Amino acid sequence: MSTILDMTPADYDAVAAIDARVSGGEKRVARWKEYLTSHAVGNAVRLVARHEGKTAGYLVGETHAWEFGSEPAGWILAVGVDPAFRRLGIARALCEEAVRRFQALGVKYTRAMVRRDDFAALSFFHDGGFGHGPYVELERRLAGAPSEADEAAGTSRAVPPRLQDGG
Ligand SMILES: CC(C)(COP(=O)(O)OP(=O)(O)OC[C@H]1O[C@@H](n2cnc3c(N)ncnc32)[C@H](O)[C@@H]1OP(=O)(O)O)[C@@H](O)C(=O)NCCC(=O)NCCS
Repeated sequence: MSTILDMTPADYDAVAAIDARVSGGEKRVARWKEYLTSHAVGNAVRLVARHEGKTAGYLVGETHAWEFGSEPAGWILAVGVDPAFRRLGIARALCEEAVRRFQALGVKYTRAMVRRDDFAALSFFHDGGFGHGPYVELERRLAGAPSEADEAAGTSRAVPPRLQDGG
């Protein structure tokens, strides 16, 4: 049984460590700590899951309304669970608590953005009742970006390790 708690500064190391395992990137640890310590928390939802005495997962979200001229929504910016504790309902519990928090903050929608080829993440959000939203992500390639042909061949854009290890 896991317990969902508010994230405190004492959790930042554990959260950054899980993210490093999930993303395969130690480089991101510093960036995570900077984000968690520097961003305003008034509209933020930051949760951790404890399981068997360990920090097993986290969720970072926030409400905002400025993007695409859209209505206010609660964005799930990141949710991650230590690979040792997957498929135990931990992310589901984090997500359900985030939804409660977003509702308490007064929004009517919860959103997330995931790679379209990230089956595990898509399946997770689908399980949580997420469907297609009314917006489409647009992207323009800048100098140095790989060609569409390279991307189509799957050889260029960095693919998170979780896509390779089955999530
Ligand atoms: C996606 C992730 C958060 C799921 O965490 P989790 O705690 O294992 O998920 P849960 O146990 O709560 O799963 C709830 C449901 O989501 C779906 N699901 C979760 N992981 C899945 C996977 N790898 N493949 C298919 N469906 C999956 C299932 O329907 C599952 O219910 P079930 O176990 O009863 O079948 C976790 O795999 C993870 O940290 N991945 C890397 C980070 C990431 O992709 N985050 C999401 C985008 S920010």
